[in-house]
Amino acid sequence: MTGEPANDQQQGLSDTDIEPKIDQLLSQMTLDEKLGQMTMVENNSIEPAQVAEFFIGSVLSGGGGNPTPNTPENWRAMVCAFQQAALETRLAIPLVYGVDAVHGHNNVKGAVIFPHNIGLGASRDADLIERIGRVTARELLATSVHWTFAPSVSVPQDLRWGRTYEGYSADCQLVADLGAALVRGLSDRCSDADSRVLACAKHFVADGAARWRESPIAEGAPQQGSTAPPQDSAAPPAVELSPGQWRIDQGDAPIDEASLRQTHLPPYQAAIAAGALTVMASYSSWNDEKLHAHRYLLSDLLKGELGFDGLIVTDWMAINQLDPDYQQCVVQALNAGIDMVMVPYDFRCFISALKAAVGQGDVAQERVDDAVRRILRVKLALGLFEQPISDASLLLSLGCAAHRQVAREAVRKSLVLLKNDKQSLPLSRDVPRLLLAGRAADDIGLQCGGWSISWQGEAGATTSGTTILEGIRAAVSDSIDIDYSADGQFAGDTRATVGIAVLHEEPYAEGFGDRADLALSSDEIDLLHRVRQRCDQLIVLLIAGRPRIITEQLPMMDALVVAWLPGTEADGLADVLFGDFSFTGKLPFSWPRSMEQIPLAALRASGEAPLWKCGYGLTS
Ligand code: GLC
Repeated sequence: MTGEPANDQQQGLSDTDIEPKIDQLLSQMTLDEKLGQMTMVENNSIEPAQVAEFFIGSVLSGGGGNPTPNTPENWRAMVCAFQQAALETRLAIPLVYGVDAVHGHNNVKGAVIFPHNIGLGASRDADLIERIGRVTARELLATSVHWTFAPSVSVPQDLRWGRTYEGYSADCQLVADLGAALVRGLSDRCSDADSRVLACAKHFVADGAARWRESPIAEGAPQQGSTAPPQDSAAPPAVELSPGQWRIDQGDAPIDEASLRQTHLPPYQAAIAAGALTVMASYSSWNDEKLHAHRYLLSDLLKGELGFDGLIVTDWMAINQLDPDYQQCVVQALNAGIDMVMVPYDFRCFISALKAAVGQGDVAQERVDDAVRRILRVKLALGLFEQPISDASLLLSLGCAAHRQVAREAVRKSLVLLKNDKQSLPLSRDVPRLLLAGRAADDIGLQCGGWSISWQGEAGATTSGTTILEGIRAAVSDSIDIDYSADGQFAGDTRATVGIAVLHEEPYAEGFGDRADLALSSDEIDLLHRVRQRCDQLIVLLIAGRPRIITEQLPMMDALVVAWLPGTEADGLADVLFGDFSFTGKLPFSWPRSMEQIPLAALRASGEAPLWKCGYGLTS
């Protein structure tokens, strides 16, 4: 394929065309070709030649699984090399490349990174999120990536969870509306590219209902990225955990079926109705039964009752948690309804275990054929057979100004004004000086958070974009002296009418973000005091993946804005701080007064009011 866009006639087959084509392919496929289609391998654990040799159906980049150098062109070359290999197999069944584009094509340097879902939940703007989906699809297709493991349609119930920010809200209906909007945007055909992207609703189901545990999930947290594969697919190497980490993620949801259906299922129904063709199973358990081996939830409920006819993919190495014997892991997962396994390292081990299980009758040939039928259905519906390699000209639009404008709008709409005494906001452009303090005021990595260039995210100039400081400087004329200090240690007797303190969480992803205590750190409190002493009006901007416990410090703040994790276009903050746009964001979660009001069940049981209710937000 030259990557030229397919002509009109070839755009994605209609359903009536697809089923006969699947039947035809299935009748020709060998067992090895079928098992290969069910295998997803991470990009640093396989060569293109092995994709062909083992008929691999999917390759992924885990968080930070980037080519070196990390450029859009290099991403495209890497993905296309795997695809070309797949196309050279006997039946030329294209592979589908997957990434976690959870807030833009966020692994790729230069791509636009949007606010994380919690900020988009504050916007409550489904149309905006559909547009974000379209922009994300175009940037994915620029690198010929056709599958993103998004949206997360978790409904987080405990703010201590490190994945709270990947959820839109604790309001199930809002999650359903916004998740469906992203699916529509991702799945929409890019007009000039004749391609679209596979969405993946995750993590099925009730991952957000996992409860706090007294011990970490496992000795070692699952490793992502380009580490060499453990040869025997044993548990990943143990890592040193700090207190609280991995105490909730991947845990058990002790809820009844009525609660599961009422609070955690509707977002999947909405995502499927919106066109989601893939669903990712959750690491977590329901009443101590692992989701990855849960036949009732995966097969009877999702595939049977909800009529889901796409494919269910596992999470990263998730089946390894099912049983001490790896072959048993494979048998349990397949028989529960898993169709594709994100191995992700030792694909030979997986394929041989599955082949043995089929040979011994522990996994029926019909189950394999059903899984492969679903995989082929998804690839055919995507139009991948007609256009396995996307239009290279899309590279020109990756990170373009128009895309960044959509992200800047999203930042504006994500901001929630929680306090505004003395009419501190909007800021005047007529003041002679502004004090600005906090590391996160001038750090792209901190404002993007986890799942940004690397799995966990990190501080520093990790990619291109606009920091809060750069946005403020651009918003005011040279007449205003912006006095910036990362630690708030301003020179001498520096004072100003207005001081802005930017507080932040260090980036994290998954269980590494589990925290026992959400109070401000001593450094954050020190910063507040330093700025407070030097200004008449203290404006606090909070960069965080979740509400923090700020009750004790609130009286010293004249204004408080939560900006969540805004992504690369932080000039959107200046747009609103200076009144060019109004504050419109509303809290997507209740804001607890103390840790005693966490999880949500505790808040409800207490009968007390939170600091601010879900839905709260001042307008300026
Ligand atoms: C991770 C996450 C999942 C992600 C997958 C691939 O462990 O749980 O959300 O899509 O692995 O990176």
